[in-house]
Amino acid sequence: MCGIVGYIGGKRAIDFLLDGLTKLEYRGYDSAGVAVNCGDNIFVEKAVGRLDSLKQKLKNNLPLGNIGIGHTRWATHGRPSDTNAHPHSDCHGKFFVVHNGIIENYLKLKQDLTAKGHKFISDTDTEVVAHLLEESYHGDFLLAVRDVISKIEGSYSLVFMSKENPDVLICAKQDNPLVVGIGENENFVASDIPAIISYTRKTYILNDGEIAIVQKDSVQFVNRQGLPINKKIFNVTWNAAAAEKGGYEHFMLKEIHEQPKAVRNTISPHIKNNSIHFDELNWNADFLKNIDKIYIVACGTAYHAGLVGKFYIEKLVRKLVEVDLASEFRYRAPIVDENTLVIVVSQSGETSDTLAALKESKRLGAKTLAVTNVVGSSIAREAEFVIHTAAGPEIAVASTKAYTTQLILMFMLALYMAQISKTVSDSDAERLIEQLKKIPAQISETLSDVEPIKTFAQIYGFNDDVFYIGRSLDYCVALEGALKLKEISYIHAEAYAAGELKHGTLALIVEGVPVIALATQKSVYEKTLSNIKEVKARDAIVIGIAAEGDTSLSNYLDHVIFVPETDELLIPLLAVVPLQLLAYYAAITRGCDVDKPRNLAKSVTVE
Ligand code: AGP
Repeated sequence: MCGIVGYIGGKRAIDFLLDGLTKLEYRGYDSAGVAVNCGDNIFVEKAVGRLDSLKQKLKNNLPLGNIGIGHTRWATHGRPSDTNAHPHSDCHGKFFVVHNGIIENYLKLKQDLTAKGHKFISDTDTEVVAHLLEESYHGDFLLAVRDVISKIEGSYSLVFMSKENPDVLICAKQDNPLVVGIGENENFVASDIPAIISYTRKTYILNDGEIAIVQKDSVQFVNRQGLPINKKIFNVTWNAAAAEKGGYEHFMLKEIHEQPKAVRNTISPHIKNNSIHFDELNWNADFLKNIDKIYIVACGTAYHAGLVGKFYIEKLVRKLVEVDLASEFRYRAPIVDENTLVIVVSQSGETSDTLAALKESKRLGAKTLAVTNVVGSSIAREAEFVIHTAAGPEIAVASTKAYTTQLILMFMLALYMAQISKTVSDSDAERLIEQLKKIPAQISETLSDVEPIKTFAQIYGFNDDVFYIGRSLDYCVALEGALKLKEISYIHAEAYAAGELKHGTLALIVEGVPVIALATQKSVYEKTLSNIKEVKARDAIVIGIAAEGDTSLSNYLDHVIFVPETDELLIPLLAVVPLQLLAYYAAITRGCDVDKPRNLAKSVTVE
């Protein structure tokens, strides 16, 4: 997620800007930039890559101005480059803006502004905001910002600086965090508390729809209509380390709880007029007609997401899909030709096995699509087509929000393909889209009560063996749940297709062995229930994951965790959440290093 800083006061702005951006590096980024009002000119410097590159450019050339803004960019629109780095400005360098989030209607706005003669130099959605401000400004900075806010759609935290108004920064917040820090004859702005915590613990946390007018000796707040808002000071008690995690104990827990926003940010660019769009693909019926085989190739959690993607594409598009581990794919002489579509899934976009599988697929003539979370990553650049999850940087080694955003993106991809191929009726597509839109709120609902899961983890967290069972999509989610538990709590967890137990593994199910049984798929419910009875008959302890309203399951299980009702294709996005939490709390119970588990790396860039 991008990092934002702003300063106005009696000292050199650049000192806070660089220090604040350094404190936000943990959020992940691919470029950085600053703009400082030096009176007769606005000093601007940007650099792709690490913050050190920017600092190197600024060496012996530090601006002296007392008001400035800075940014570390996590690319969403336009690959990492000096030009695409923030701050962005209007045609005449009168207004500067830094932004975190996604302006969903930026293409239309850019077209309109271009038609009015505005010249754009970057590929970003953010630059549109600076030109909008230029259009809206007629002497009143706040009024112009309010007018801009009324025209943009999407999620944003924005900080504006104006050459003609050197005594004020104006900030606006919608769906992305923004805080104002109160100093002595100076004030600070940041996208996250760690940037300002060493300067002040007196802060204002902006809420959605609020606009802050920040001067060096005052801060006022108004709503979008310009009406004043009274806000209370939030005194930060966290230490710096805790602040990086937003008050959560670990990045993994923070990222589990970020899933509603991550999934919402992934969905929103692709739904227009109640249908699914992928402007970056622009596929048509002829393109899909020529695809006679689809592979989904990935590693680890991404592979588990691929297994779910198979269900989506086969169910909605009626095309054959084979899912393969990237480390196996290229060594088995895969049957790939120009009529094959190979979809590679990778959070980091740098996994060596997956990149190698992608290159081999291209060598064999396949069409290639990358599903990745990192714009400009090696896999994103190598694939012919690329679509992005909008999870933001995932810091914890154990993947959580990347998985759920991969699922939702592949669901939308399948529905997009089905719309083109007309393998799904308009009414079914609309119904699925309505269900899709509810998922972020339903994930929030699933996260609202973690106590039962924390208790299970404390009770069963010391077992040496745990089994996960399920059928159909429940089996796919069981695999992901087992991996989560294994990789952060070091418990030997295995997932089995519930129907497969009797072919051997049932020999391991004895009294007291915990079995996590996923029973959310109505189409195979009775079969799953009979498998649950099999393990109960061996005195296993069974924790069920079921859809709300399934009152009968409790009769057969020791515990049941319910998730909200939705289409059974979408329920994996909800069923996985208790499994992520179970793994997290089990690891806490066992005193494991949750964010950095032994032997593992966040991105496996070796074969
Ligand atoms: C998942 O929790 C693990 N960290 C690991 O399996 C990971 O999913 C795998 O290494 C693939 O990484 P990628 O998505 O960045 O390619």
